[in-house]
Amino acid sequence: MSEEESTVIFVLGGPGSGKGTQCAKIVDSFGYVHFSAGDLLRQFVRSGTKEGNECAEMMQQGKIVPSSVTVNLLKTAMKESGQSKFLIDGFPRNLENRDTFLSVVGHDCTFVLFFDCPEDVLEKRLLGRAEGRADDNIETIKKRFKTYQDQTMPVIEHYDKKGMVKHVKTDVSIEEVFEKVSAFFK
Ligand code: C5P
Ligand code: MG
Repeated sequence: MSEEESTVIFVLGGPGSGKGTQCAKIVDSFGYVHFSAGDLLRQFVRSGTKEGNECAEMMQQGKIVPSSVTVNLLKTAMKESGQSKFLIDGFPRNLENRDTFLSVVGHDCTFVLFFDCPEDVLEKRLLGRAEGRADDNIETIKKRFKTYQDQTMPVIEHYDKKGMVKHVKTDVSIEEVFEKVSAFFK
């Protein structure tokens, strides 16, 4: 399967907006393969290499790691899966992520699924979840919110101008969100 023939859906939204949860449900119902850029980066960090340690440091500061690293991880995961329908969550986090994906993978997404949720709700969810993540502390959370506003919102605006964004409000139950999300995949 060449990447030229693949279908890619980007899933974006603030930290804690339900990207991972909803992606798991989309996989079950609609036969996509799901890759989380954040999960791939955390796995890369565990490799313990010098580059991995540099990424860990940036993630602890809520910063976006260089696109070359993230896009290579995504490209490899896509290729190794042997599949052709991809949900990519937490990506592109900035316009550089997006440009690099386009030049490395060779095509854009079909649409962007965007999860809209107020910051106070996100903060409660992040502080309440017990995944043992090094960046789920209040100090890093505030930095992640700022990075999201400064760097990720311009990506949403970019795709909005092209009419490619499916907006979903996610400060409701998992089931209610999934009902809205499902409609875009049917
Ligand atoms: O999406 P998630 O919250 O798991 O991402 C965790 C961290 O991984 C982000 O705060 C950021 O530091 C890093 N990341 C990144 N580039 C991406 C996705 C995640 O630098 N495209
Ligand atoms: Mg996630």
